Amino acid sequence: MEKLREAFQKKMNHGNEPHTFFAPGRVNLIGEHTDYNGGHVFPCALSVGTYALARKREDQKIRLYSLNFPETNVIEVDKQKLSYDDKQKWSNYPLGVTEIFKKAGHDIDSGFEIVFYGNIPNGAGLSSSASIEVLTAVILKKLFSISIDMMDIIKLSQRAENEFVGVNCGIMDQFSIAAGKKDHAILLNCDTLEYLQIPLKMDGLRLVIANTNKKRGLTDSKYNERRSECEEALKILKEELNIEALCDLTNDQYEEHKHLIKNPVIKKRAKHAVYENNRTIAAVELLNQGDMESFGLLMNESHRSLRDDYEVTGKELDALVEAAWRERAVGSRMTGAGFGGCTVSIVEEGQVDSFIKKVGNHYTSKTGLEAEFYSVEAGDGAKILKEGLL
Ligand code: GLA
Repeated sequence: MEKLREAFQKKMNHGNEPHTFFAPGRVNLIGEHTDYNGGHVFPCALSVGTYALARKREDQKIRLYSLNFPETNVIEVDKQKLSYDDKQKWSNYPLGVTEIFKKAGHDIDSGFEIVFYGNIPNGAGLSSSASIEVLTAVILKKLFSISIDMMDIIKLSQRAENEFVGVNCGIMDQFSIAAGKKDHAILLNCDTLEYLQIPLKMDGLRLVIANTNKKRGLTDSKYNERRSECEEALKILKEELNIEALCDLTNDQYEEHKHLIKNPVIKKRAKHAVYENNRTIAAVELLNQGDMESFGLLMNESHRSLRDDYEVTGKELDALVEAAWRERAVGSRMTGAGFGGCTVSIVEEGQVDSFIKKVGNHYTSKTGLEAEFYSVEAGDGAKILKEGLL
């Protein structure tokens, strides 16, 4: 926080005391690639995330700086002329949210300046980008006294990612970052947007995230490919079934109608979406009953389905998960979009240190890469931490 303050003073010159904000990263416990198929997801916000100091300006300039990307220095643009800039990676997120706010008719009547600092690993599948988006939305709401609720913040942030950044993501990341609650995970029905904050009963257990540190090259194109494969499956099934989304199906209904899908690849993709959705609902029931062991087994099944049917894991994620299974994690799976990024495991508290050591060694010997581990807790959603002066 001190460094953030120092950077703000240095980079943004003089003015009123800024406001302080925070938005978490997220980890998805189960329910992967179901959000854009009208299914359920079960993510939690993390206690790590993105911090920001922000205030309005008297002119029409937007000035942005990130302590994580000092090489880009202060990015300064005119509020009236916002467009996606291929050369600037991170600033497209706050600028995208600003542009979408303007398009939605919200009155951003002056410029503003923000300094960011994030302690989520970037590009590791823990939603560092959605964290900046939701954070910016919360900042704009405060600075310009815009009367919008949490659901608007979520939808505007997702729109920024879809329309400005050009990534066709679902709603899970922005939702969990806005609606997170300490020591809870969120069961979200992505079709109706109804959600429940479910207590994470972790008695004697810890959540351990492991980063493959593999660069995720083709993520966006592969992600979009999976989305269109699911759309194709839905189109075929709709010829005989009265459904709106793949996740409207029970496993039995899928089995009964799967012969309609002739292409074996499309068939596998649909199977994952249907089974993963029903697995997620079952997993949350088990968690509510305090049966973490069975919850963990469903996490393992989720990984196998993502590996074999959805084919979004790859050798690095598989190596980490297999090592975690071998080290008797209660459950372990890839989390997020896949193709690199992170795994999430549930591990007995007393075993965390040796788990990290053994899984890390195994991973390095299999892949030549070093994994990074974080023992994390479920934290609160995006919020203002401290009021400055308006
Ligand atoms: C990314 C997307 C989410 C979701 C996951 C896969 O994180 O942003 O909307 O689709 O992948 O579950």
